[in-house]
Amino acid sequence: MRHKSFYIYTFGCQMNVHDSEQMGALLRDSGCLPAADPAAADIVIVNTCSIREKADQKAHSLLGRLRRMKKKNPRLIVGVAGCLAQQWGEEFARRIPGLDLVVGTHNIHLIPEMIARVQTCGAPLVETSFRDEVNSIGIFAPPGNGAVSAFVTVMQGCDNFCAYCVVPYLRGREQSRRPEDILEEIGKLAGRGISEVTLLGQNVNSYGASFGNGYDFASLLRDVAGVKGVERIRFTTSHPKDLSERIARCFAEIGSLCEHIHLPVQSGSDSVLTAMNRGYRAAEYIKKVDKLRQMCSNISVTSDIIVGFPGETEEDFRHTIRLMERVRFDGLFSFRYSDRPGTAAAGFAAKVEDKVKRERLSELQRLQDGITLEKHEAAVGSVEEILIEGYSRNSRAEISGRTRTNKIVNLEGGPEWIGKTVPVRIEKAYLHSLRGKLV
Ligand code: SAH
Ligand code: SF4
Ligand code: F3S
Repeated sequence: MRHKSFYIYTFGCQMNVHDSEQMGALLRDSGCLPAADPAAADIVIVNTCSIREKADQKAHSLLGRLRRMKKKNPRLIVGVAGCLAQQWGEEFARRIPGLDLVVGTHNIHLIPEMIARVQTCGAPLVETSFRDEVNSIGIFAPPGNGAVSAFVTVMQGCDNFCAYCVVPYLRGREQSRRPEDILEEIGKLAGRGISEVTLLGQNVNSYGASFGNGYDFASLLRDVAGVKGVERIRFTTSHPKDLSERIARCFAEIGSLCEHIHLPVQSGSDSVLTAMNRGYRAAEYIKKVDKLRQMCSNISVTSDIIVGFPGETEEDFRHTIRLMERVRFDGLFSFRYSDRPGTAAAGFAAKVEDKVKRERLSELQRLQDGITLEKHEAAVGSVEEILIEGYSRNSRAEISGRTRTNKIVNLEGGPEWIGKTVPVRIEKAYLHSLRGKLV
């Protein structure tokens, strides 16, 4: 019998990207082969995100396209996974005819069995129950041949309930994975030539809180640094309220921990931060960044900001601008607030007009672009340690890697450099990348 082929579309955060890697690994283990082209696949899975309205719309328009593909080819198996699948469950299957599988965020491990079942019993099949034991957390999904870098899940879910955010509803309660399992997985990855690992969780700073034995994220970082072959450690994402001095100190003390932290601030206004239920004030955030820079002078700090949260006044927005000028982020992801079903903020009355949100967003982005470019220009002339990850995005004649501070550097060179850590002199600065030359 011919092997079935599969194609996975991925929306959303790095956790979703990694979930897709895990789905791919499971499908390959069950005898399926990856398809290069979705039009040629027997199974198409859309791994969805629900964080903002736009992500939601994109997934729905793709599902519409797949529905038309399915009309032409009734044997095509169409599945939806991820956060929208978790959110809509049965209703998804009712609303979108032709959908075969709806797989929630705790049920990835069931995909191969569901595919087998759908072929004998028919569709649609829906699995969206939350599980105490998240079976998918430990699915081993080594990246493809030649990969240099890999994700490792250290925890799932979130207990913070920020007023705007759907994640706690769609990923369930916070659960830390056992350190033994994490370290074993990293050992296996290192054995396959992976030299950079990124530890993943919605809020890695509170890792281990449920263990009750004092083993925390700083302990985990030290243990990961002890795994042979791991040259670079990164992690994402951090919540400022849980960023302890113990964790900050790791940047000074652990040689393989890269000098970069993604520390979403969301707003520079205390009244907005309170309404968001973030659990810190702007001044506390600034103090934590100062501490990080005191521990590690060249640390790069990136962030997320939402503009137009319900009730955000012009004065609140000025506080955000002032915080950006004070902190000078190395990079920033900024978003217009959008209502998400079931969240507290969706029920807040004082909605900000879309036009105002757009104006605030473009002002903020202009400011950040200037800062990012200035920081990139300041790097010109310096020699940076680059881990070469592959060809550059735009050309096969060039290779590309990142600085320890997570900035993309493109340079001349061939595939023989991939996987190597090399000194590179920075020669030119752009907004989204740097250009350099091997020293
Ligand atoms: N767990 C991470 C981030 C999760 S979502 C953390 O705690 O920081 C990524 C970013 O999306 C958030 O940091 C926030 O800036 C943005 N975001 C989340 N919900 C949003 C909403 N309803 N509208 C606009 N942006 C939102
Ligand atoms: Fe969402 Fe807040 Fe949890 Fe991040 S910490 S996932 S923003 S609820
Ligand atoms: Fe999106 Fe779910 Fe991640 S909502 S941002 S895919 S946790």
